[in-house]
Amino acid sequence: MFIRLTECESTNDEAKQHASQGAEHGTVIVTEKQTAGRGRRGAVWHCPPELGLAFSVILRPNMPRALWHRLSLVTAWAVASTLQKIHVNASVKWPNDVWVHGKKICGILLESTADAVIVGIGINVNVKDFPEDISHLATSILLETGSEYPRDLLLENIVAALLHYSDSCEENFSEIIHSIRSSCALTDHIVSLTLQGEKIIGRVKTISDSGELILETQEKTLTIIQADEIRVM
Ligand code: BTN
Repeated sequence: MFIRLTECESTNDEAKQHASQGAEHGTVIVTEKQTAGRGRRGAVWHCPPELGLAFSVILRPNMPRALWHRLSLVTAWAVASTLQKIHVNASVKWPNDVWVHGKKICGILLESTADAVIVGIGINVNVKDFPEDISHLATSILLETGSEYPRDLLLENIVAALLHYSDSCEENFSEIIHSIRSSCALTDHIVSLTLQGEKIIGRVKTISDSGELILETQEKTLTIIQADEIRVM
């Protein structure tokens, strides 16, 4: 079911409310305008009306809660693989950004409630200009392909891919990881990240079968489950 709103503060908040009222698995909340769109780590998410896509999907995962964290990578892969099908050279920036040639095209914000996961997705679809401070970091489908793409069609295809991959995630995670490895934006790159307050620099080796980032520092190999912003150096 698609719930279409002209304006709201954040589709993630709307989705949480619908989830608490029993909305079913796969319910999508999409809006033309967010007045308080949120990114990760408290950042603001700007999505220009008519040009971007901002929506949230309510998932009621059919797998143990301990595996819900897998949905970050699964969502990034659902978006990246859908974009690849329309000839956008998208890759997954672990754990849940989608990049094209080193620039961000999609941001993902996952939030859990007691019995649901809210998957918030923001995509730069037909955006031509970004604010100066992020123009070197962001891209869009229009900028990558030279043509506008119908936002409704993209929304339908991403939601279908997300439901397909998330519903089969418990059995097929290693297959999904295998695909992500071939489209991983970080593999072989030197990156810096902060882990429990400590700055770490290392080379990304791969993504493990269970979805962790494997990083080689000068001293040791680290298996990273969660990290704040990862910067490519
Ligand atoms: C990030 O990269 O920091 C995550 C950005 C997530 C933005 C989307 S837009 C739809 C949904 N509603 C929100 O308030 N945030 C997410």
